[in-house]
Amino acid sequence: MVKTPDRRKASKAGSTGTTMDALVSLAKRRGFVYPGSDIYGGLANAWDYGPLGAELKNNIKRLWWERFVHRHDDIVGLDAAIIMNPKVWAASGHLSGFADQLVDCRNCKERFRADHVGADHIGTDAACPNCGKKGAFTKPRKFNLMFKTFIGPAEDEAHVAYLRPETAQGMFVDYKQVLDSTRVKLPFGMAQIGKAFRNEITPGNFIFRTREFEQMEIEYFFAPPASDAAWQEIFEQWRAEILAWIKQVGIDPARVHEVEVGDGERAHYSKRTVDFEFDFPFGQEELYGLAYRTNFDLSAHGKASNEQLTYTDPETKQSFVPHCIEPSMGLDRTLLALLVSAYRQDGERVYLALPPAVAPYKAAVFPLLRNKPELIKKARAVYEALRKDFYVMWDDRGNIGKRYYAQDEIGTPVGLTVDFDTLKDDTVTWRDRDTAGQERVKVSELAARLSKLISGASD
Ligand code: GAP
Repeated sequence: MVKTPDRRKASKAGSTGTTMDALVSLAKRRGFVYPGSDIYGGLANAWDYGPLGAELKNNIKRLWWERFVHRHDDIVGLDAAIIMNPKVWAASGHLSGFADQLVDCRNCKERFRADHVGADHIGTDAACPNCGKKGAFTKPRKFNLMFKTFIGPAEDEAHVAYLRPETAQGMFVDYKQVLDSTRVKLPFGMAQIGKAFRNEITPGNFIFRTREFEQMEIEYFFAPPASDAAWQEIFEQWRAEILAWIKQVGIDPARVHEVEVGDGERAHYSKRTVDFEFDFPFGQEELYGLAYRTNFDLSAHGKASNEQLTYTDPETKQSFVPHCIEPSMGLDRTLLALLVSAYRQDGERVYLALPPAVAPYKAAVFPLLRNKPELIKKARAVYEALRKDFYVMWDDRGNIGKRYYAQDEIGTPVGLTVDFDTLKDDTVTWRDRDTAGQERVKVSELAARLSKLISGASD
């Protein structure tokens, strides 16, 4: 049975102090995440990333790529097609097994994922979460989660194709081409960030479970292990890497729980899986997964394609199918966990304590007063100089207190105010988002200080 996301029962107790309502409202109001197709009444659980959400997402991806591709000599990047030859999905096991059990409520006709409503066994008298009626669920039946489409104008079985349900398969299918075209030697990894699509039966909880989402995945290949200890050592290294990434990106590690996935619960390809779960406001749920996929995928694709998806050891000249460990991280869940971790309320003041490396704007520049041309001129000069190297915001609306609050709410780490002293001594007020503390900093030192702030937080 192929593992589908979040197979374990949803919403164990877990509270973060941040309500989803507060987050969803801030995300919409300030342009992080909007309901998709809103003017047409929306589309079930489709979300659009607004200007700040797009920045935040890009910053997370850049940080991830720098960490796992640029700083790892043994990992190369890939950007494979979303629509692949359908034979890929037959060989990977997705066509036959990437399914959830679904049930219908005979009373209100709503449809649910069986394990989400306690109806994954026949004869259950579980209550329908929609109408409350007990014992009204139909027998569970299988529903394949892949999105179907057609290649070309003919909409018949011969032209069926699928949107990929995971980015992973691109890396297995391109394994040989990467081996032949680069200088990689085992052990090595391939990394990919991209969209994946699943026709989830019950998506929900904002951007937590959607039908279209982004994954950041690595397939790390190594020689067939001589013992369990050999693959377990690599598994442990990746476990530590995931925890280090969680810390770096700004997700609160105190809210993360590692859960060993039991024998009957793992995906068909996995010999061991550890889920990294997070205390979301709606409960403890899967954030990331780490799986030992053995040589399942390369063997299956080698067999189905008649290609040698092997590796020949340059010293021993022995050929074998490599094994692989897969850290798999959802980008949208990263963003949600980050917002939950960063959300702070301090009296009236709400701020997002985002690490400067991922914050949409790195600083905001304000003239103290908007009707003083000499202040505007100087502030514009500071802004223009900084924007060469940083994404900074210009704001001259309302009073200075309101501007600080507005920036706090979107996580801008620093506010820089140009006032009359600036004209005399070339210093500005540097106002820290988290402490609201202020100090004077020379204009000539701003760029270096901002760089330090950004890289310091991302080290
Ligand atoms: N290649 C392995 C794989 O796809 P998975 O546990 O099904 O494993 C990996 O998915 C990660 O992708 C999850 O831990 C989660 O972060 C993210 N993810 C999966 N389904 C999702 C969905 N419907 N919406 C948002 N993110 C999802």
